[in-house]
Amino acid sequence: MSCRSCYLLLFFFLFPLLIPALGSKREDLEIRIGPIVIGGSPAPPPRSLQPCDFENMMQYKAYLVIQRFKQTITCDPKNKTGSWSGPRICNNDGRGYEGFYCETPPNLHGPKNRTIASVDFNGFTFVAPTVCGFVDQLPQLALFHANSNGFGTTVPDLTNLPFFYELDVSNNKLTGGFPTNVLPLVNLSFLDLRYNGYNGPIPPSVFDIQTQVLFLNNNKFSGCIPYNLGNTPANYITFAFNMFTGPIPNSIGKLCNTLLEVLFLGNQLSGCLPFEIGLLKNATVFDAGTNRLTGPIPLSFGCLRKVEQLNLAGNLLYGEVPEVVCRLAKYGHLMNLSLSDNYFTSLGPSCLELIECKKLDVRKNCIPWLPKQRSPEECAWFLKRPKASCPTAHYIPCHLPYEGADQLDSAAATGADQPAADGSKDRTSGGYTTYKALNHDEKKP
Ligand SMILES: *[C@@H]1O[C@H](CO)[C@@H](O)[C@H](O)[C@H]1NC(C)=O
Ligand SMILES: *[C@@H]1O[C@H](CO)[C@@H](O)[C@H](O)[C@H]1NC(C)=O
Ligand SMILES: *[C@@H]1O[C@H](CO)[C@@H](O)[C@H](O)[C@H]1NC(C)=O
Ligand SMILES: *[C@@H]1O[C@H](CO)[C@@H](O)[C@H](O)[C@H]1NC(C)=O
Ligand SMILES: *[C@@H]1O[C@H](CO)[C@@H](O)[C@H](O)[C@H]1NC(C)=O
Repeated sequence: MSCRSCYLLLFFFLFPLLIPALGSKREDLEIRIGPIVIGGSPAPPPRSLQPCDFENMMQYKAYLVIQRFKQTITCDPKNKTGSWSGPRICNNDGRGYEGFYCETPPNLHGPKNRTIASVDFNGFTFVAPTVCGFVDQLPQLALFHANSNGFGTTVPDLTNLPFFYELDVSNNKLTGGFPTNVLPLVNLSFLDLRYNGYNGPIPPSVFDIQTQVLFLNNNKFSGCIPYNLGNTPANYITFAFNMFTGPIPNSIGKLCNTLLEVLFLGNQLSGCLPFEIGLLKNATVFDAGTNRLTGPIPLSFGCLRKVEQLNLAGNLLYGEVPEVVCRLAKYGHLMNLSLSDNYFTSLGPSCLELIECKKLDVRKNCIPWLPKQRSPEECAWFLKRPKASCPTAHYIPCHLPYEGADQLDSAAATGADQPAADGSKDRTSGGYTTYKALNHDEKKP
């Protein structure tokens, strides 16, 4: 990992230094020689490029791979491939092949050994049947970014690319079951499969990939979220807008130090919210809106001291909106608590203040004395239904900051954890890494 980071860093630092002079002379020469007709006979066909025309043999081989891939592109509305000819393939200085960037692989030395390390087709809107036979044939590749193109089939076998660590194939036309070719790539640090046509279950070993970012949203994945979710080291995870069923695995509690944002939004998840969610002490976004989750909100949610966006709207949750959760607006960082479209019947006292300052939305519930609630018939119908048993809903796995304080405000004054000052952050839900991933275009953390 550290070696890989150096590689990338080098790549960006060297970038501006490599700019001038090198290749312009040969081009001038070719332009001048080109049209001369000797002795009235027609010009010979242009000499095809030889290995000696390139900076090194690796670049010549990459050139052949690129030219072969170019033939398969059926649509290039931005004429990006217009620049894909001649021996100067590296675009580090803006005068090479658009989308291709070079760096010296970590196991070689010297600038003369540089070759394609990064392919960035983000937004190119290419159409081609597949990137198989292309990406996998660039052996020194570290990054492949291809957001918003029309590539089909699936992810190629990249196990022969020892330096590869970032894969973004979001918003393409990839189909079939989960792309098992990514599973051996345990050293990936970025895996973005969102906005494709993938379907079926996701294999448990996806959570053994040592990635920081795992975006799976907006496909047609189904089945349960594998039990070993707690293995993933990812900081940002999106399961949103698939067809996942079953419960949120309680191994999620193992992500207590690492998970920063997670979106379960827009699936068919069911069962109780596991109390282990309350262990996610670094999480700023927890969103399980629009599912079929039921039971009360576990009191452990009162331990989510860093949570800013907490969305559970559009589920089958009921009971009281816990006072300990509403207090997170004062003793934590809670800015937006969305609980509309559930079956809650009462509120803790602090929750009222949150409604007033528009941080809590409880419309379309069953709270008798509040406006914009469900009809009494709907509420009566739900009340009669058999209820899930959620035995750990009352367990609080932390020391709540205000416990034992005479006045609620005194805990905030201890400075043990900085409470969110009102308006200190001007973040709407658009400002978060995972929420950005709900747009189909490119957004990096
Ligand atoms: C595409 O780009 C190349 C190189 O920039 C240029 O020579 C060519 O005329 C362009 N083609 C179209 C159709 O614009
Ligand atoms: C390229 O890498 C090879 C193998 O490590 C090394 O022997 C050679 O000196 C390098 N060439 C340059 C010009 O850096
Ligand atoms: C992943 O990285 C580790 C440590 O750098 C290395 O030993 C291992 O071979 C790598 N695995 C793969 C599949 O690249
Ligand atoms: C989680 O929080 C702790 C303490 O606030 C911090 O030291 C740690 O770096 C955080 N982890 C991540 C992944 O941000
Ligand atoms: C609060 O969260 C809900 C659900 O995620 C979202 O629809 C709404 O836009 C958010 N409000 C603000 C002010 O961020």
